[in-house]
Amino acid sequence: MEIKIFDNYNDLCVAVADEIIGLVRKKHDAILGLATGSTPVGVYRELVKDFQAGFTSYKNVTTFNLDEYVGLGSNWEKSYRSYMDNNLFNHIDINPDCIFIPNGYNANPDLECEAYEKKINRHQIDLQLLGIGSNGHIGFNEPGTAFDSVTHLVRLDKKTRSDNSRFFNSLDEVPLLAITMGIKNILKSKKIILMASGTGKQNAVFRMIQGPVDNSCPASFLREHSDTWVYLDKDAAGKLE
Ligand code: PGA
Repeated sequence: MEIKIFDNYNDLCVAVADEIIGLVRKKHDAILGLATGSTPVGVYRELVKDFQAGFTSYKNVTTFNLDEYVGLGSNWEKSYRSYMDNNLFNHIDINPDCIFIPNGYNANPDLECEAYEKKINRHQIDLQLLGIGSNGHIGFNEPGTAFDSVTHLVRLDKKTRSDNSRFFNSLDEVPLLAITMGIKNILKSKKIILMASGTGKQNAVFRMIQGPVDNSCPASFLREHSDTWVYLDKDAAGKLE
C-alpha cells in the first residue's frame, strides 16, 4: 500500500484526477470503478474541467459504480445514479450504455445483485476509486463484511446512516438498505486509489493502514492488494505515525 499526503483537499483532488485522466488518455477503453459521497466531488469537477477544455474523451470508457441505495422511494435525486449524472456523466461524452450502477429501484434487490455481479465479472476494472467511511467501510462493505464477499444487499450501519443523513432532510429518510460491490470485487481491480479528506477520517485511515487486517475495518483488506494507493490530505493523515 503506497501513501501520498497532500496539503489540502484541492491538491488531493487534482492529483487523483490526473491519475484518471492519464489512464484514459493512454487506454481509451479503460474501465473505471467509481465512487460517490463528498470526497470525490472535487475529482469529478477536475475531470469535467479537463473534458471541457477538450483534452480527454470518455467515448470508449466503461464505468462501474460501487453502490446504490435501496428504498429511496420518491427521493430519486438522492440516488447515486443521480449524483453521478449531476457531477460527471451529464458533462462528459461517455456512452450511456457503458455506465453501470446497481438499480436500487429493482423490486427484487437480490436479483439485481446477481445481475450486477455478472456484469462486473465480464470485465476487469483498470482503476477503482474509493472513499472510506468513518467506520472503515469501502463501498457499503460495513464492518463485519467477509473478505470474499461479492455484490450483495447490505443493511446499512448505524454510523453510515448517521454520517449520510447530511444529504437528507432527516435520519429517517436515509435508506436502511443498499446494494454494494463486495470486497472481492474491489480487490480484483488492477489498481485502486482510496482518497480521504478531513479530520473525521483520521481514525478510519489509521485503522486501515496501521490496525489489524480484518473485517472490523474493511478498508484494511486493501493491504492485501498489490497496487493500492492511498491519497490523503494532511487532516486525514493526522493520526498516522
Ligand atoms: P464521504 O463518504 O466521501 O461522503 O465521506 C465516503 C464513504 O462513505 O465511502
